[in-house]
Amino acid sequence: MDDKDGSSEGRPVRIGIVSVSDRASRGEYEDRGGPAVLDYLGEVLVTPWEAETRVIPDEVELIRATLVELVDDAGCCLVITTGGTGPAPRDVTPEATAGVIEKELAGFGEAMRAVSRPHVPTAILSRQVAGVRGRGLIINLPGSPKAVRECLDAVFAAVPDCVDLIGGPYLETDRERVKAYRPH
Ligand code: MTE
Repeated sequence: MDDKDGSSEGRPVRIGIVSVSDRASRGEYEDRGGPAVLDYLGEVLVTPWEAETRVIPDEVELIRATLVELVDDAGCCLVITTGGTGPAPRDVTPEATAGVIEKELAGFGEAMRAVSRPHVPTAILSRQVAGVRGRGLIINLPGSPKAVRECLDAVFAAVPDCVDLIGGPYLETDRERVKAYRPH
């Protein structure tokens, strides 16, 4: 049973953070997208949580396997990916995500692109998708740390209600930062 304080049987809520980048996974440069997600969640979530972080190359099968492992085995109620959403040949995060979700939530990608467009004309190049797999919500973000913040700000108010609806734990946010909207 999931408790209303956000913990599941006293354990912190688990959230997956997956950085998808050939170069970061080879250590050629420092991963900055994953730490930006980590910082954002640290600012916004009041519920005790712990991160399952991964830094992996742009390989569709590996991305798929990582998402499945994080939701099905690690029990993550939320998995956020960063990177690999653009149009370049190696960008396959949306394809991998589409292959493991059961329901697509197109509104996430629409909202993130809409919010991002005034910041950068190239926001329309991000093919980011989101959807539900079992009791896990998976959200793609672009790789840049600035994009991570802008995109999460655009959608995070809807995340706790979505997690409730799919049978996940009760996520509480810092209302000063993001006011979770819970119509249900
Ligand atoms: N969205 C926001 N909010 N801010 C950005 O700087 N960069 C765009 C876009 N979305 C960007 C953004 C760019 S330049 C690209 S190529 C795509 O996201 C895909 O980025 P990715 O391949 O790192 O996922």
